[in-house]
Amino acid sequence: MRSLAFEKVCPLVCCLFLYVHLLSSQNYFSHFASASSTTEAEALLKWKASFLNQTSHNNQLTDWIYLPKTTDTNTTNSSNNPKANESPCIWTGISCNAAGSVTNITIASSGIQGMLHEFSFSSFPNLEYLDLSLNKLFDVIPPQISSLSKLLHLDLSNNQFFGRIPPEIGLLRNLTFLYLYKNNLFDTIPKELGNLKSLVHLELNANQLNGSIPTTLGDLHNLKILHLSDNQLSGSIPQNLGNIQSLTVLELDNNQFSGYLPQNICRARSLINFSASSNHLIGPIPKSLKTCTSLFRVRLERNQLTGNISEDFGVYPSLNFIDLSNNQFYGKISPNWGLSPNLTTLRIAGNNLIGSIPAEIGNATQIYALDLSSNGLVGTIPKEFGGLNSMVNLMLDGNELSGRVPSEFKSLTDLEYLNLSANKFNGSIPSFVGDFLKLNYLNLSNNKFSQAIPFQLGKLIHLSQLDLSFNALEGQIPSDISNMQSLKILNISHNNLSGFIPTSMEDMHGLTYVDISYNHLEGPLPNIKAFQAAPPEALQDNKGLCDNSSFLQLCNNESPKKDHKLVLLIIFLVLGAIALLAFIFAFVPKREKKHLEEKNRDDEISFSILKFDGKMMFKEIVRATKDFDPMHCIGQGEQGSVYKATLSSTCTVAVKKLHLLCDDDKNVQKAFLNEIRALTEMRHRNIVKLYGFCSHRQHSFLVYKYLEKGSLARVLSKDEEAKELGWSKRLNIVKGVARALCYMHHDCLKPIVHRDISSKNVLLDAKYRACVSDVGIAKFLNPDSANWTAVAVTYGYIAPELAYTMVVNEKCDVYSFGVVALEIVMGRHPGDLLSSLSSGLSSSSSSSTALPAHPMPVVDVFDQRISPPTHQVAGEVLSLMKIAFACLNSCPRSRPTMKQVSQQFETHQRLHLTKPLRMIKLGELLDFDGLDLAI
Ligand SMILES: *[C@@H]1O[C@H](CO)[C@@H](O)[C@H](O)[C@H]1NC(C)=O
Ligand SMILES: *[C@@H]1O[C@H](CO)[C@@H](O)[C@H](O)[C@H]1NC(C)=O
Ligand SMILES: *[C@@H]1O[C@H](CO)[C@@H](O)[C@H](O)[C@H]1NC(C)=O
Ligand SMILES: *[C@@H]1O[C@H](CO)[C@@H](O)[C@H](O)[C@H]1NC(C)=O
Ligand SMILES: *[C@@H]1O[C@H](CO)[C@@H](O)[C@H](O)[C@H]1NC(C)=O
Ligand SMILES: *[C@@H]1O[C@H](CO)[C@@H](O)[C@H](O)[C@H]1NC(C)=O
Repeated sequence: MRSLAFEKVCPLVCCLFLYVHLLSSQNYFSHFASASSTTEAEALLKWKASFLNQTSHNNQLTDWIYLPKTTDTNTTNSSNNPKANESPCIWTGISCNAAGSVTNITIASSGIQGMLHEFSFSSFPNLEYLDLSLNKLFDVIPPQISSLSKLLHLDLSNNQFFGRIPPEIGLLRNLTFLYLYKNNLFDTIPKELGNLKSLVHLELNANQLNGSIPTTLGDLHNLKILHLSDNQLSGSIPQNLGNIQSLTVLELDNNQFSGYLPQNICRARSLINFSASSNHLIGPIPKSLKTCTSLFRVRLERNQLTGNISEDFGVYPSLNFIDLSNNQFYGKISPNWGLSPNLTTLRIAGNNLIGSIPAEIGNATQIYALDLSSNGLVGTIPKEFGGLNSMVNLMLDGNELSGRVPSEFKSLTDLEYLNLSANKFNGSIPSFVGDFLKLNYLNLSNNKFSQAIPFQLGKLIHLSQLDLSFNALEGQIPSDISNMQSLKILNISHNNLSGFIPTSMEDMHGLTYVDISYNHLEGPLPNIKAFQAAPPEALQDNKGLCDNSSFLQLCNNESPKKDHKLVLLIIFLVLGAIALLAFIFAFVPKREKKHLEEKNRDDEISFSILKFDGKMMFKEIVRATKDFDPMHCIGQGEQGSVYKATLSSTCTVAVKKLHLLCDDDKNVQKAFLNEIRALTEMRHRNIVKLYGFCSHRQHSFLVYKYLEKGSLARVLSKDEEAKELGWSKRLNIVKGVARALCYMHHDCLKPIVHRDISSKNVLLDAKYRACVSDVGIAKFLNPDSANWTAVAVTYGYIAPELAYTMVVNEKCDVYSFGVVALEIVMGRHPGDLLSSLSSGLSSSSSSSTALPAHPMPVVDVFDQRISPPTHQVAGEVLSLMKIAFACLNSCPRSRPTMKQVSQQFETHQRLHLTKPLRMIKLGELLDFDGLDLAI
C-alpha cells in the first residue's frame, strides 16, 4: 500500500520541484547574483522566492524585500533606515536579538503555499521561535530542521506536511513547545521525541500517525499537554504515561488503542482534561481516575470499558463535562454525580445502567446536557429534576421509565432538545411543554401517553421536529399546531387521533415530512407539499382521508355525504369479503373438525394460530399448492421453499414450508407457539405480515401475506426489473428495511434480532414497498440444530465477528443491513467491495493513508443498468452509502444502532455535494467515525 501511495504522490511532487527551481532561478538569482555569503536575509528571500503562490503572499510579506544600494535613489529614506538593506530584523514576522541575528520567525496565516526544501535551516543559528502555522506548506519536514539548535518553539500545525516526523527533531534538546497537529503526517511517532526532556506541549493530533505510542514519551517529565487524538495509533497506552506527574491534558481519542487504561493515569492528581473516546479500550476504570479530583473534562465514550458505574467514579469538585456513553458499564447511577457542583454535561447513554435515576442528580444545578438514553433505567423522573433549570438537552429515551412527567419539570424552560421516547411514560402530555419556548426537537414517541395533544404545543415556534407516534393520543389534531412555523418533521402516526386535519396546517410551508398513518383521521389532506408528496404508507390506515392523488379517494367537495357513502360502501365491501373468508376458513371447517380430531388425534400434531381454523387452512393450502407441487414454488431459501397459494380469487398467501420442527419436547413447542403468536400480532408496514403457522406430520409451514414483486434478490437479478427500480425506489426500499429493523430492535417489548437479513428476505409489494420477512423466526429455522439459539444466517451477509463468537445481537443485523444497502446501490452483492474494504481498513496501520485508500470513483460502483442519480438524489444515495459503510465497521460497537440509522433517513439527511458526482471517490465515504454527514 505504501508504494502505491507514493506512486500517486510522486508525479505531483516532481512537477512541483520543477516549478520551484524555475521560480528560484528567476527571482533569487536576479537579485543576488552578486551575493557571496548566505546571510539570514538572503536565506529568507530565497525561501520566499520558492513560494508557489507569489500573488497572494506578496500581499502579506510585501516588506520582505532586499534593497540593493545601487538602486536606492532616495537618500533620505536610506539614512532613516540605515539597516534596511542588510537586516531582515524589521521585516514582518521577524525579530532579532541585540546582535541583529534572527531569533523569531512568526508568519502564521499568511496564505503561503510552498515547501521547506528551500529553507536553509543552518542559516539561523539563533532561531528560538518558528511559527509557520495555518499556511499551505506541504511535502516533508526536512531532517535538517535539527540544525536549529536553539529552537524552543516549533509550530508547523495546520499545514499540509506529509511523510514522517523526522526523528532528527529529537536533537532539538531545548524544544519546549512542539506543534505538528493538523497535517498529513504518517508513519510512527519517532521514539527520539523522548529525548526532548524540556517539552511542555506536544501536539501531534489530527494526522495519520500509526503504530503505538513509544514508551519513551513516559520520560517527558515536564510534559503538561499531550495531544495524540485523531490519528491511527494502536496498541495499548503505555503504563508509564502515568509517571508524568505534570500532565494536565491527555487527549488520545479517535485512534485504535486497545487494552486497559494505564493504572496510574492520574497518580499525581494533576490531570484536568482526559479524553480517550472512540478507541477499543477494555477493562475497568483505574483507581487513580476514581480519586482524580482535579478532573474538569473527561471523554471515554465509544469504548468497551466495563465495571460497576456506581463504584468506579468518585466525587469531582471541578468536573464540568463527562461522557461515558456507549461502553459496557453496569449498575446504578451514583448519587455522587449530584456532588459535582460545576457539572454541565453528563452522558452515560448506551450502557447497561439499571435502577432508578437518583434524586440527587437534581443537586447538579449547572447541568445543561444530560443523556442517559438506551439503558435499562426504571422508575419515574425524580421531581428534583425541577431544580435543573439550566437544562438544554435532555435525553432519557430508550429506557423503561414510567409514570407521569412530573409537574416540577415545568421549570426546565431552557430546553431545546427533549427526547423521552421509547419508555413507558403515561398520562397526558403536560400542557407546560408548550412553555418550553426554545424547544427545537421534541420526541415523546413510543410511550403510553394518552388523551388529547395539548393545544399549547402550538406555542413552540422554534420546534423543527415533533414525534408523538406510537402512543394512545386521541381527539383531534389541535389547529394551533399550525403556529409551529419552524416545524419540518411531524410524526403523529400510530395513535387514536380522529376528526379532520386542521385546514390551518396549509400555512405550514416549512413542513417537509409528515406521517399521520394508523389513526382515525378523515377528510381532505391539507394542500401543502408535505401532505401532497407524502408516500402512501405515511397516510395509510386512517378512517377516510381524501385527496386528488392516485392512491386516496377523490374528494367530492360538493357533496361530502356522497363521500361518506362511498366510504361506507367500501367498508361494506371489505367487511363482506372478510365475512366470506371467515365463513370459508372458520365456519365450514368447524363441522369437520370433530371428525378430524377424533380420527387423527394420535398421528397428527396440528398447531393453529391463525384466526382461521388451522386444520382447514392446512388442507386448503395443501390443495391450493397441489401438495406443494414445484409448479407453485416461488422461492428457495436455506430453510425451506416458498409457495404461492391462491386460496380464493381474493385471497393469496405465501407459504414457507419448513423442515419439520423435530423437537418433541412439549415445552419447547409451547414456547415456540407463544413466540409465533406474538409475531402474528406484530403490525408494521415494513414487516411481512405473518398470519400463522401450521404443523403436521408431513409438513410444517408458515403462512405469510403474499407480496407481488417477490424478493429484492430476485428483482435485482433480472435486468428488466432492475431497470424499473430507479434511485428513489431504491432509497425507499433501504429506508423501509431500516424502519423495520429499528422497530424490531428498539420498539418491541422484547427486542427482536432478525439474524438473517439478506436481499432474499426483503420482499417487495406491487408499489415496491420493502417488507422484511422471517422476522423473529430465523432462530428456529436451522435444520441442523435442535439448539434454539443456533445461528441461521445467509453466507455473504454475516457479520465478521460471528466467525469467532456465537453472540448474536442487534449489531449483526446492522452489518447485514449494510450489505443489503450496498447491494441495492450496486445492483449486485458487494462481495468484492467488502473484501477490498476490509483490506483497506487493515492497511490503515501501514503508512499509506495520505491518500484516500479507495480512489475508485463512487459512480463506478453504482448499478450500471440505471443512469446515475441526479443532484439531490445523489446526495441521498451518498449519504446512504456512508451510513452503509458505517454499518459494515468490523467492530460491532462502532456500528451505529438501527435507531440512529433510521433517524438519519427519517430526517432526510443527505450529503451536500461540493463537486460533481463523478469526482467523488469511494474513499471519501469511508468515514468510520459514525454518521456525521458533512463531507
Ligand atoms: C494564489 O492565491 C490567489 C488568491 O488567494 C488565488 O486566486 C490563486 O489561484 C493562487 N495561485 C496559485 C498559483 O495557487
Ligand atoms: C523619499 O522618501 C521620502 C520620505 O521617506 C518621501 O517623502 C519621498 O517621496 C521619497 N522619494 C522618492 C523619490 O521615493
Ligand atoms: C515571536 O513573534 C510573535 C509575533 O510577533 C510573538 O507573538 C511571539 O511572542 C514572539 N516570540 C518570542 C519568543 O519572542
Ligand atoms: C539549551 O539551553 C541552554 C540554556 O538555556 C544552553 O546552555 C544549551 O546550550 C542549550 N542546548 C542546546 C542543545 O542548544
Ligand atoms: C466552579 O465554577 C466556578 C465558576 O466557573 C468557579 O469559580 C469555581 O472555582 C468552580 N469550582 C471548582 C471547585 O472548580
Ligand atoms: C442534594 O439533594 C438532596 C435530595 O434532593 C437534598 O436533600 C440535599 O440537601 C442536597 N444536598 C446538597 C449538598 O445540596
